[in-house]
Amino acid sequence: MTSCFNGGAGWPEPVVRVQAVSDTCGDTIPDRYVKPLPERPSFSPAASDGGGGPSIPVVDLSMPDADATSRAVAAACREWGFFQAVNHGVRPELLRGARAAWRGFFQQPAEVRERYANSPATYEGYGSRLGTAKGGPLDWGDYYFLHLLPRCLKSHEKWPSLPCSLRIGRVTYMIDGCRETTEEYNEELVQLCRRVMRLLSSGLGLEPGRLQAAFGGEGGEGACLRVNFYPRCPQPELTLGVAAHSDPGGMTMLLVDDHVRGLQVRSPDGQWITVDPVPDAFIVNVGDQIQVLSNAAYKSVEHRVMVSSENRLSMAFFYNPRSDLPIAPMAELVTPDRPALYPEMTFDEYRVFIRQRGLAGKAQLESLQAKATAPGSSSSSSS
Ligand code: OGA
Ligand code: NI
Repeated sequence: MTSCFNGGAGWPEPVVRVQAVSDTCGDTIPDRYVKPLPERPSFSPAASDGGGGPSIPVVDLSMPDADATSRAVAAACREWGFFQAVNHGVRPELLRGARAAWRGFFQQPAEVRERYANSPATYEGYGSRLGTAKGGPLDWGDYYFLHLLPRCLKSHEKWPSLPCSLRIGRVTYMIDGCRETTEEYNEELVQLCRRVMRLLSSGLGLEPGRLQAAFGGEGGEGACLRVNFYPRCPQPELTLGVAAHSDPGGMTMLLVDDHVRGLQVRSPDGQWITVDPVPDAFIVNVGDQIQVLSNAAYKSVEHRVMVSSENRLSMAFFYNPRSDLPIAPMAELVTPDRPALYPEMTFDEYRVFIRQRGLAGKAQLESLQAKATAPGSSSSSSS
């Protein structure tokens, strides 16, 4: 029997943890997780499987030449919307410690995990679905979502408190793993995101601080973390850990399991490409808000997650504009030849869409674009 929790906390139906489904379903996954045929994963090989096919660019962030770094980041984000950042300056021990701490959460007994069960009011805490439509599609993954910035939204009570041991070399430390490492992780990642923002801004021919200013400046931005846990799946060919979507926010820094692949990215020619993660790299991608601000110079590209016969953990750090600022194409990038492709909208307003309807490929951004380019509007679409 699969246990259900949390049906009364604002969800349209009882929430079932995928972890519990995985433990009890035997060889056959329940129908609710089976995707329609055209959405099922195609198992396209990763570039390193010998196919030598296209793959997302790898950018070394330690290059001394800032212009060359900016050009490499910008080229990747114009073409792929994705790159793997290596030599990014965040200590590998911190990456491993954060992953280990969060794995620890998903290894807790169900009654401990359920203390942190989330509701659709804020999504903060332990969850298993996005979107509140009854009978809506379910993905093969559980997650933990929390706010980091602005500080007024951060509340430690909503984070797991789990004293655990962390082994580094021969020494074992006792820490409140999730809280301590997530704090440190947040500090480091905000710095890294600010740096990448400068590179992206220069790559558009703008002042290095321009894009950050559009986010509300340093200290004005928002950040949240979604730790995904994809339990082992007996029929990975029928389902997805996260269905195709683009990230609604500004920019995402994804830390994945070094040894289990899963992320697939839509390549510039429309194929699904499996990312072969470089150990300890961040997979960086542009979200919808940067696509809007850059007037589609940078692409917020569709991606999805395959599951497999092994558990997989990933940590998605979302770096967002201040949520009450109007976000529209930056004036410098709007010309008679390239009119504004999107109307103004705050991230708060945009997020309401996503939270009600769930993630849906590129549908949300396209519906925005349709508004800006509808008959009677002076803009015209070129992408
Ligand atoms: C996400 C996401 C990818 C992954 O959380 O938005 O795209 O590999 N995750 O888990
Ligand atoms: Ni995503």
